[in-house]
Amino acid sequence: MQDILRQLEEKRAAARSGGGEKRIQTQHGKGKLTARERLELLLDPGSFEEYDMFVEHRAEDFGMNEQRIPGDGVVTGWGTINGRLVFVFSQDFTVFGGSLSEANAEKICKIMDQAMKVGAPVIGLNDSGGARIQEGVASLGGYAEVFQRNVMASGVVPQISLIMGPCAGGAVYSPAMTDFICMVKDSSYMYVTGPDVVKTVTQEEVTHEELGGASTHSRKSGVADMAFENDVEALAEVRRLFDFLPLSNQKKVPTRLTDDPVDRPESSLDSLVPVDPKKPYDIKELILKVADDGDFYEIQPDFAGNIVIGFGRIEGSTVGFVANQPMVLAGSLDINSARKGARFVRFCDCFNIPIVTFVDVPGFLPGTDQEYGGLIKHGAKLLYAYAEATVPKVTVITRKAYGGAYDVMASKHLRGDVNFAWPAAEIAVMGAKGAVEIIFRSELDNPERIEALTQEYADTFANPFIASKRGYVDDVIMPHNTRRRLARSLTMLKNKSLENPWKKHGNIPL
Ligand code: HXC
Repeated sequence: MQDILRQLEEKRAAARSGGGEKRIQTQHGKGKLTARERLELLLDPGSFEEYDMFVEHRAEDFGMNEQRIPGDGVVTGWGTINGRLVFVFSQDFTVFGGSLSEANAEKICKIMDQAMKVGAPVIGLNDSGGARIQEGVASLGGYAEVFQRNVMASGVVPQISLIMGPCAGGAVYSPAMTDFICMVKDSSYMYVTGPDVVKTVTQEEVTHEELGGASTHSRKSGVADMAFENDVEALAEVRRLFDFLPLSNQKKVPTRLTDDPVDRPESSLDSLVPVDPKKPYDIKELILKVADDGDFYEIQPDFAGNIVIGFGRIEGSTVGFVANQPMVLAGSLDINSARKGARFVRFCDCFNIPIVTFVDVPGFLPGTDQEYGGLIKHGAKLLYAYAEATVPKVTVITRKAYGGAYDVMASKHLRGDVNFAWPAAEIAVMGAKGAVEIIFRSELDNPERIEALTQEYADTFANPFIASKRGYVDDVIMPHNTRRRLARSLTMLKNKSLENPWKKHGNIPL
C-alpha cells in the first residue's frame, strides 16, 4: 500500500513540475510566474482543487508519442476567492508552450461545464502559443468547443480573462467573448495575425508590443479592460474585481459590511459643478464621494475617457456606475464611449447589478470621423442597452443633458426608475447659444439682441424644472444629499420586477 501511495505522490510531483526546471527558469526570466504560482496568488490559500492532473495528449505524430507531460499544458480546477466559489484554468507555457491540444481543451471545457451547472464564474489565465501545431484540426476543434461554451456561459456566469503571455490567432476569440480582459504590461500580447504576417501583407513593420501589447489594447483598441504592471498586481486586482460580481445570473449581488453612513452628507458636492457651464470638472470625484468608503473599481480607465464606468457599492451592495466625464471631450458621446458604456450596461443587466448613471452630456460628438465610423449604429448600442435593461436604474443629471444624449443616458423615457437632477441641471435640446443661433439666424448681425435672446432661452430652458413639471425628473435634489437619495432609491427598488416581452433574442445594432 505504501508503494501505491508513494507512486501517487511521485506522479503528482511530476505533474506539478510541468515542463521542467529549465523551462520554469525561462518563464521566470521573462518576469512571468508559472501557471501554478499564478493560481496560488489568485485563489484563497489551500482552496485549489485540481482536476485532470494526469491527463495526457493523444497525439502520435512528430515525436509526440515520446513526449507526454501529465496535465498537458493547462492546470484546471476550482477554488475560492474570499470564500466565494470560482472555476479556473491556467495555461502552462512550460509545457508545449501552453498550446491547446484536444485533451487540453477537454480539461477547460470540463470546468466550464461544471461552472455552468453550479453557477459560478470562470477565470482563465492565458499564456499560450495557440493551437497545438502537432495536432492540427483536433486542436482547432478543441478551440471551437471552448468558444461554444464561452457563448453559452455569456450572461449566465461572469467570465474573466487574464492575458499573461502570448495569445494569438483564433485563440484570441475565447477571451474576446468573456466579460473582462485584463493584460499584463510588457509580457502579454494579443493579435489575430502577428508582426510577420502583417509585414508580408501590408508591409508595415510593427513589434509584438505595438501590435497587441497591453497599452495598445487598453488605450487604442479597447479590447482590454485593464492593464497591470506585472502578474502579481494583475492577480490581486482580479481578486478585487471578483468581489464586486455575483456568482451567476441567478444570484443577488454580493454585499460587504461597511461603516460608511448611508446618509453621509458631502457638502463639497454643492460646489463640484463650476458656475461657468463651459468649465470642466472631474465626475470621478462624485463617484468616489457617493460610493461606500470611496471604493470604486474603474473598468477601461484608459479608453474612451469621456465616459467613466465601473463598480462600487452603496449600502454594502454592488452597483454599476456610468458617468459622462466633462474633463474629456466635454463629456460628449462618441463611437468608443458608446461602445464602452453599452457593454457595461449590458453586463450589469445580465447579472442583476443596479445601474447608477450620472449625466453631464452636451450631445454626440460631431465630425466626419464619427459619422463615417458609424456613430449612428454605435450610439444606438448605448441607447439599446439602457432601454432593454430591467435592473434598477437611478439617474442623476448633474449639469447638461442635451438632445438625443439626454434620452440615451438612462432617461425616464427609457424606463429610468428614479431620475434626479441637481439644481443647476440644464435639460434642453441644445445649449442656449446654439439654439438661438439656429432659431434667430436672421438676427445674427445684431449681437446685443442675440445676447438678450440667449439669456432668455437659458432662463427659460436651462434648468431642471421644465422636465420636472412633466415628471421626467422625479425630484431636484441637493448635491450634498446625493448618496442618501441614491441609497434610499436603491433600497426601494430592491424587489423591482420588470420583464421584457418574450423573444429569442433582440437584434442590438452590432
Ligand atoms: C506546439 C508550441 C507551440 C504550438 C510554442 N510551442 N507554440 N508547441 N504548438 N503552437 C512550444 C515550442 O516548440 C517550445 O517547445 C515551447 O513551446 C516554447 O516556445 P518558444 O518558441 O521557445 O518560446 P518563445 O520564444 O517565448 O516564443 C513564443 C511564441 C512562439 C511566440 C508563442 O512559440 C510561437 O510563435 N509559437 C507558435 C505560434 C503559432 O503560430 N501558433 C499557432 C497560431 S494559429 P520546447 O520543447 O522547445 O520548449 C492558432 C489557431 C487557433 O492558434 C485557431 C482557433 C480557431
